[in-house]
Amino acid sequence: MEYTHNKERMIYELLAWYDSNKRSLPWRDNPTPYAVWVSEIMLQQTRVEAVKPYFHRLMSELPTLSALAACEDDRLIKLWEGLGYYNRVRNMKKCALLCMERYQGELPSDPAQLLQLPGIGLYTAGAIASIAYRIPVCAVDGNVMRVFARVLYLEDDITSEAVKHKFRAIIQAYVPKRCDAFNQALMELGALVCIPNGAPHCDKCPIQSECIAYQRNDAMRLPIKRAKKQRTKEEHTVLVFMYQNRVHLTKRPAQGLLADLYQFDFSEGYYTKEEIIKRCSGLAKIQAIQELPAAKHIFTHKEWHMQGWLIQLSDVTQKNGIWCTRKELTETYAIASAFQVYKDIVLHALSGVK
Ligand code: ADE
Repeated sequence: MEYTHNKERMIYELLAWYDSNKRSLPWRDNPTPYAVWVSEIMLQQTRVEAVKPYFHRLMSELPTLSALAACEDDRLIKLWEGLGYYNRVRNMKKCALLCMERYQGELPSDPAQLLQLPGIGLYTAGAIASIAYRIPVCAVDGNVMRVFARVLYLEDDITSEAVKHKFRAIIQAYVPKRCDAFNQALMELGALVCIPNGAPHCDKCPIQSECIAYQRNDAMRLPIKRAKKQRTKEEHTVLVFMYQNRVHLTKRPAQGLLADLYQFDFSEGYYTKEEIIKRCSGLAKIQAIQELPAAKHIFTHKEWHMQGWLIQLSDVTQKNGIWCTRKELTETYAIASAFQVYKDIVLHALSGVK
């Protein structure tokens, strides 16, 4: 049996569909290089709906690349609090500083120059160049690869770098003059129609007649991805120390997981109540100790299983770390989402306190 696929028809139908079906998104109204960059970095690993409030907040507080370059690290991380993958924002600061130095405070339009900047890979370089500067380059992320794996019935393992390279070469040959609309149309199709989990909405697809996987009734199986590695499981204890309406925070190391974010006291392994009391002797006087709910946080490569304890102190000798007020906990210090359960408990315990 012969299957049909026509490149020009696909491009035409996709653009027509995008023009009448695209969502109105805050970064689409006025796609300046800065807005496209900020949105694309936020949208890596985070859903559109979750990104919107962060995008608005960052753009109103830091409306230009030079404002971002001048922003204090702790403030920048605070603006990112809850979005996760904090290296993204650390790289943004480095990138902004380099653009101040090299490009008069603008993001360059040349994909090769964009690629040299921290945090900007092939996908993001393609997105900025095509959406903000209308340079006809592809922007290929997982969504776009899924669409093409199905349309062209490509059965390669899309987690392989060689295969990504192959996909980019194929897709580049499709990029039309309206590259900004084309790249966003593919993202939109991947998000709304050619979806990753569950059955794709082929009945609503504007390029159904060009899709070989549809014709073979096999879209669900594609794309092919090598099985992921199992995540390692780690056990930790979170000690929430409170003293005179303040809570104890420490700053995480500058390198590694959740670098430079703030946390409650955090130790490897689980401890019994007796062990905790013993560890505190000499450092602080315990007034009351209470077990808190367990919490779990899933990272890409590992899972944290946490047991929490709330420890009210009547005296403090330990000098390290920060004794933080409720206001500072909400406005100043960025706490990793992994500790959200414990942060909520503290905010609740301190409700009514300034
Ligand atoms: N996902 C990644 N980039 C996007 C964009 N510009 N619009 C919508 N979804 C996206």
